[in-house]
Amino acid sequence: MQKIFAAITGVEAFVPPDILTNADLEKMVDTTDEWLLSMTGIRERHILKGAGLGTSDMAVPAVKKLLQKTGTHPDEIDMVICTTVTPDMVFPATANIISDKVGIKNAFSFDMAAACSGFVYMLAVASKFIETGSAKKILCIGADKMSTITDYTDRKTCPLFGDAAGVVLLEPNLEYGIQDHILRTDGSGRKYLHMKAGGSVKPASHETIDAREHFLYQEGQPVFKMAVSKMADISVEIMEKHNLPADKLWLVPHQANLRIIEAVGRRMGLDPSRVMVNIQRYGNTTTATIPLVLWEYENQLKKGDQLVLTAFGGGFTWGALYLTWAYDPA
Ligand code: UT7
Repeated sequence: MQKIFAAITGVEAFVPPDILTNADLEKMVDTTDEWLLSMTGIRERHILKGAGLGTSDMAVPAVKKLLQKTGTHPDEIDMVICTTVTPDMVFPATANIISDKVGIKNAFSFDMAAACSGFVYMLAVASKFIETGSAKKILCIGADKMSTITDYTDRKTCPLFGDAAGVVLLEPNLEYGIQDHILRTDGSGRKYLHMKAGGSVKPASHETIDAREHFLYQEGQPVFKMAVSKMADISVEIMEKHNLPADKLWLVPHQANLRIIEAVGRRMGLDPSRVMVNIQRYGNTTTATIPLVLWEYENQLKKGDQLVLTAFGGGFTWGALYLTWAYDPA
C-alpha cells in the first residue's frame, strides 16, 4: 500500500497591532536596548490589548485567513488541535472555542500542552491521523497570549515574550509532507521553567497573587544551555538519519533567543540564509513561533524543499521534525 504523508498545504498567522519596543521596556524596568539586542536579539514584540480578549481571539483571524486562502469550507475540517500555555480558560479546550467561533461543526477538537515544543509535538501527533486515513483536513494551531503570564516588573523575563497565533492546514499527500520526527521529554527540568500557582497543587489564592506566582518563572541560564545542546543534538540526529544536505536544508527553529538559533544553525553546518529568523520583531511567542516564522518565509519555499523544525521548552520538552514542503509560492 502506498504511504500517505501529512503535508502542510497552507500557513497563516495573526499578530496583534500593539507593539512593545525595547525603548518602552527601558521605561518599565532596569534594562537597555543594547542589552536586549545583544543578549536576546529582540527589538520589539506584539501585545494583545483589549478587555475580554484571549488566545482564541488571535487564533480565530489566523484560521479564517487560512480557510479562505486554501479554499477550505469550515465543514470540511475534521480535526482541530490547539497547542498553548495560555488557554482562554483552564477548560474547556481553547480549540473548542476556536472551532465554535469559526463555525467548524464536523470536527473534534482538543488542546495539547508541551510549552514551546507544542507545535512540533502537535504536528507529530496530527500526522498520524492523516497517515492512517482517519482524518483528511486538520488545523494545527499554535497560539499564546504570553502577556497574560508575563511579570512586567521582572526584567529577566518580561522582555522575552510576545503574543501571536499561527496555524497550518495538514492534508494527505502521496509524495511530500512530514517524513519523520524525534521527540524527547525530561520532566526534571520543570524546576527551571514553570508557573508556580494556579494548578491543582497550588490553586489561586490571595497569597499566590501577592507573591506574583501566576506569572512565568524562568531560570534563564540553565534553560539557555539545555536549549542550545538539546535542539542542536536532536536536529543533527535527524539530519544524519536522513542524510540531509546542509546546503539545501531549511532550519525552522523555535524563536526564544537569537543566540540559541544561531548556535543551532552553526552546529548543523547551515548558512545563516537557510535559518528562518523573525525573533527581532515578535520575541518568543511560545507555541506560535514556528508557524509565525514559516508564514513569513512561505513565499521563499518551493515544492520539495527540505525543512527541519526544532524546538525546546518548558517540561523540559524538545524535538525535531523533518518534512518536505508540498507547494510552490502562489
Ligand atoms: O522558550 C522557552 C525556552 N526559553 C529560552 O530558551 C530562554 C533561555 N534563556 C535565555 O535566553 C537567557 O538566559 C536570557 C536572555 C533570558 C538571559 O541571558 P543570560 O546570559 O542567561 O543572563 P543572566 O540571566 O545570567 O543574567 C546576566 C546578568 C545578570 O546581572 P548580574 O547578576 O550578573 O549583575 C542579570 O541581572 O544580566 C542581568 N540581566 C539584565 N540586565 C539588563 C538580566 N536581565 C536583564 C535585562 N536587562 N533585561
